Amino acid sequence: MSDALSRPDRQAVRGIGYGGDYNPEQWPESTWAQDVRLMTEAGVNLVTVGVFSWSRLQPAPGELTAGWLDRVLDLLGAAGIGVDLGTGTASPPPWLVAAHPEILPVTADGRRLAPGARQHYCPSAPAFRAAAVDLADRMARRYAGHPAVVMWHVSNEYGCHVPACYCELSAAAFRAWLRERYGELGALNEAWGGAVWSQDYTSWDQVQPPRTAPTYANPAQQLDFARFSSGELLACYLAEREAIAAQAQHAPVTTNFMGFFRSLDQFRWAADLDVVAVDSYPDPADTEAHLLSAMTCDLTRSVARLAGSPGRPWVLMEQAPNAVNWRAVNVPKAPGQYRALSLQAVARGGDAVLSFQWRAAAAGAEKFHSGMLPHAGTDSRTWREVTELGADLGRLAPVAGAAVRAEAALLHDWESWWALEADSHPRQLHLVELLRAFYRPLFEAGVTVDFAHPESSLSAYRLVVVPALYLVSDAAAENVRRFALDGGTVLISFFSGIVDPRERIRLGGYPAPWRELLGLRVEEFAPLPSGAVVRLDGVPGAARGRAGGGTREDTRGGAGGGTRGGAGGGTRGTEAGGAGRVWQDVIGLRGAEPLFRYAEGHLAGQPAVTRHPYGRGEAFYLGTLPDRATLRGLVAQACGRAGIEFRTDVPPGVEMVRRGDHLFVISHLDQPVELDLGGKSLDLLTSDIVGPAAVLGPRGALVLTARD
Ligand code: GLA
Ligand code: GLA
Repeated sequence: MSDALSRPDRQAVRGIGYGGDYNPEQWPESTWAQDVRLMTEAGVNLVTVGVFSWSRLQPAPGELTAGWLDRVLDLLGAAGIGVDLGTGTASPPPWLVAAHPEILPVTADGRRLAPGARQHYCPSAPAFRAAAVDLADRMARRYAGHPAVVMWHVSNEYGCHVPACYCELSAAAFRAWLRERYGELGALNEAWGGAVWSQDYTSWDQVQPPRTAPTYANPAQQLDFARFSSGELLACYLAEREAIAAQAQHAPVTTNFMGFFRSLDQFRWAADLDVVAVDSYPDPADTEAHLLSAMTCDLTRSVARLAGSPGRPWVLMEQAPNAVNWRAVNVPKAPGQYRALSLQAVARGGDAVLSFQWRAAAAGAEKFHSGMLPHAGTDSRTWREVTELGADLGRLAPVAGAAVRAEAALLHDWESWWALEADSHPRQLHLVELLRAFYRPLFEAGVTVDFAHPESSLSAYRLVVVPALYLVSDAAAENVRRFALDGGTVLISFFSGIVDPRERIRLGGYPAPWRELLGLRVEEFAPLPSGAVVRLDGVPGAARGRAGGGTREDTRGGAGGGTRGGAGGGTRGTEAGGAGRVWQDVIGLRGAEPLFRYAEGHLAGQPAVTRHPYGRGEAFYLGTLPDRATLRGLVAQACGRAGIEFRTDVPPGVEMVRRGDHLFVISHLDQPVELDLGGKSLDLLTSDIVGPAAVLGPRGALVLTARD
């Protein structure tokens, strides 16, 4: 477990943390001893308590009715189970709403949301903030010294149901935020393009949140409101964190993120989290569930990295042990899928694997959500998988704390995401789908990637991929340019580098900050209708040299062998044709070499994909979204140029990722798969020597000790 959770003065979480949300207040006290006994049986060593306990902890203002929680913590502590203690502030109790109805949030179209579910608060409402801080303060005073408490869990999934509030209190706070940002109204009018559609403000009081308007709300106003709203939730977190720190100075504090959740700029939150935690709920009905959850893991590790400690482990705070209850159809996890996705989290840097929730609820909104202990009890598939996973995670103790190092990065920025998906653009684009398109070939080739902030240091990487990074600051633009200048390989897609942080176009031909780097100029956009495809012709003989010669020899050694191909063997070269979707840029070459040209339509014969040497590195540009095989070939080629091993021998559906001295090989397939491991290795899960040939059963896994 990461240092933060293994301090000597309290319950230590040894090895990999395992457990879930524990809501004992939903059950008679007589079940608690059984819970703890079964937790021990399952290998549970970490549980989250109190996240939704406000009404039980504080039935009335100004008190803390915590005797029950004392007994729960004592029971857990006596069993050696660490507690991630919730501040309990994610669902305001009815008495608070009755006393302060103004805390209820308001939607963009002016509807005030009612209580009756959860998260019914406006983050800018002073009465909510005061009540939340009061509860956090009382909890911290009472439990700061409790030996079972290893970590504090502020609120829950900030923004999940209510990412932004549009009430008058929020409007006033938004105005104050804007005054701070712009100083003068003239600067705001300039940034927001006040001359367009007669929107110049003459007094701060006239400025409003981007409420539902007759047509598109001003996109710069929308962008600033997204920044503001993420910041208001962060302010809520910080206020509670401060209350905890006042009582327990060194206690690690966290809150749970939701992966690629659009409304929260996790990179801005990162520095204020001692432990970065994520909730991951891939849909078992999605055949690429494992790919999306891998992206979530890699993003979470990247958030932790931005907080200043590369390789810092993170926590999978929630996942479902089996089905959820909140989709239209809630497909169960396949046998072994809970294990495979849990091992994936560990492989990608997770030091704890927790679920929502320990015991499946008997009442309320989540009674059909799976629990580690299902309604059926211990004679159930879920329970057997839960206990087996506990044993597996116990064997992975040597992996805890080890770093995952990525040689490639996909640039990601929440501000750009907010701006990209505004409603007044050449075409609707969905960032996560684009990220997934570029992530897929890297994942399939066993290339581990970070999601790096565009202004963060890129020196650890050899390849930087820039998918539709629509908004870039000057610093970010320079960062990418310098990366290539110093020898890095960059691969930039269409609709990148278009606007500055004020959401104003960078003029003179796109992408203005990177025209020299790319050796081209995009004159205009020609997006493709949904479902439309444009044929692409590969340019014969393009981009030979190192790319054709395959990849760098794997000098790190290690388990897993087989064929290690470069752009050849199994990936398509540029001489073959392909197809583009989604977008077309109208590209004028200024030194770049075309790799693909449009083969039809009014852009026939014009460049679609290019490459340009720059400084000691080079830059690829994609003016369209190539089909999977073509994109795979291009990414393989870019990896080849960057000197990154791009494996072509990993069977589809099998994941390979290295953490510290171990190589995780995880099958996400329903059927057995044969592998060539390139030699013999010790499998940490079974203590068996395996290889060179191995067969992985359905959703089987190996954790191999590297042979350096
Ligand atoms: C309408 C409006 C114009 C402009 C165009 C854009 O015609 O009158 O102001 O918005 O749409 O197509
Ligand atoms: C979220 C919440 C949990 C629970 C789960 C159910 O992750 O944080 O409280 O509602 O969803 O999937």
